[in-house]
Amino acid sequence: MTQKTLLCDLTDIPLHEMRCISLSNRNVLVAHTEYGVYVSDEICTHEDARLCDGNLTGTLVKCPLHGSRFDLTTGAVLDDPADMPLQIYPVSIENGSVYVTFPA
Ligand code: FES
Repeated sequence: MTQKTLLCDLTDIPLHEMRCISLSNRNVLVAHTEYGVYVSDEICTHEDARLCDGNLTGTLVKCPLHGSRFDLTTGAVLDDPADMPLQIYPVSIENGSVYVTFPA
């Protein structure tokens, strides 16, 4: 059982930009890259930093606090000090709206 949730309009997030969006049950990062739209948990897996305050390069997001980079296509962490992958959620675009699917 999964939960499909409307996040935003695609036009809300310009290409090469990202936003943090608060939902009723969790907060997520939404990134609009040239390779597609990706959604992950908002908070870095190292400490309490919002990844939307960092930098987006291609599909790599860099944490604003200590600089670990995460690949939004897989969640893989590429640099210390973070050592846990980022949770990534499946995304679909329907009629210009961005939907994310969470595990139940
Ligand atoms: S809080 Fe993100 S790398 Fe430390």
